[in-house]
Amino acid sequence: MTDKTILSVDNLALSYGSNPILKGVSMQLRRGEVVSLLGPSGSGKTTLLRAVAGLEQPHTGSVTIAGRAIYDAAAGIDIPAEKRDLGLVFQSYALWPHKTVFDNVAYPLKLRKVAAGEMGTRVHAALKNLGLDHLAERYPHQLSGGQQQRVSIARALVYNPPVILLDEPLSNLDAKMREEARAWLRNLIVEMQLSALVVTHDQSEAMAMSDRILLLNGGVIEQQGTPQEMYGQPQTHFVADFMGSNNVMKGRIGDIRGGEARIDLDNGMAVWGLRRTNAAIGHEACAVVRVEQAQLCEGPGDNRAEIELVTSMFLGDRFEYVFHAGDDLLRVWGKTHEAPGRRWVSLPAGGVWIF
Ligand SMILES: Nc1ncnc2c1ncn2[C@@H]1O[C@H](COP(=O)(O)OP(=O)(O)O)[C@@H](O)[C@H]1O
Ligand SMILES: [Mg+2]
Repeated sequence: MTDKTILSVDNLALSYGSNPILKGVSMQLRRGEVVSLLGPSGSGKTTLLRAVAGLEQPHTGSVTIAGRAIYDAAAGIDIPAEKRDLGLVFQSYALWPHKTVFDNVAYPLKLRKVAAGEMGTRVHAALKNLGLDHLAERYPHQLSGGQQQRVSIARALVYNPPVILLDEPLSNLDAKMREEARAWLRNLIVEMQLSALVVTHDQSEAMAMSDRILLLNGGVIEQQGTPQEMYGQPQTHFVADFMGSNNVMKGRIGDIRGGEARIDLDNGMAVWGLRRTNAAIGHEACAVVRVEQAQLCEGPGDNRAEIELVTSMFLGDRFEYVFHAGDDLLRVWGKTHEAPGRRWVSLPAGGVWIF
């Protein structure tokens, strides 16, 4: 832990009954950083966030915020949620239906017994920051989904917590608003010099919003890094598959040369790629190729094969070609419509990972 660390989670484990959900998670959030907690549904993202917030009880490990232990199983420390000084934004927003926007946002200050005058000033400042000051007297049911979401963020920010925790904050917005809200939310966090841990199951949202990504898989962090590292240098099949749009094909290792290997695919193709497995020659392995790495090409060569194009779909900004290769479907992107038939496809070795 360095002095730039604002939130530190060490070896946190939590079970529901006999069912282990978090299996020893360690992570750090630095001051001013936006970190995404990414993972498939059920991987433990919400549970980890709630354990940090003090809403779930881990059985081992520790959590430190700004140098202060708020949970430590070994030392018997367990500071109650309302004393942890964290801003929380829930997936459901969790606004009080019978309180106005003003009173919803004022609630954390009331809880902390802030005087009425100062409370008014701070609530109006938070509402103004989020473009909500003209809605202060409305009730939640009189607001759009996007406005409700901003109220829940204003409520989390109103007492300047050093860390805010957001659980799928954009998931209730429609697709178009969601894409705009990514940039808006990131800017807000950066401009207000907050440190944020954001849960999402959407890899493009995580890449767009964060300085770093932690990818959870079954209650453990499978890999962490910058968006570029997570996308470009996956260490495991799970990470490669989760982070992009991929062709995944099974086969056996045919040859090994240092950091590269040849995989003889069950579909009849043989391709060289970056070796990410210790499997020996003859053993089963799997090739992962990002769809944008595969290309149509003119004729034979290394890492090329002539296979059957069955469909050419127009996606607006590009075409997607669907090929049949043995029992595999192979997807390739390009600029022009192509008629069905046999075509040469290239899978450049630098864009093939072998796990
Ligand atoms: N209160 C609970 N009691 C029992 N099991 C739970 C409870 N909450 C969550 N779980 C289980 O814990 C696992 C992780 O859940 P969760 O943290 O919500 O995942 P995520 O947010 O990544 O989708 C899931 O298998 C879920 O069914
Ligand atoms: Mg969740």
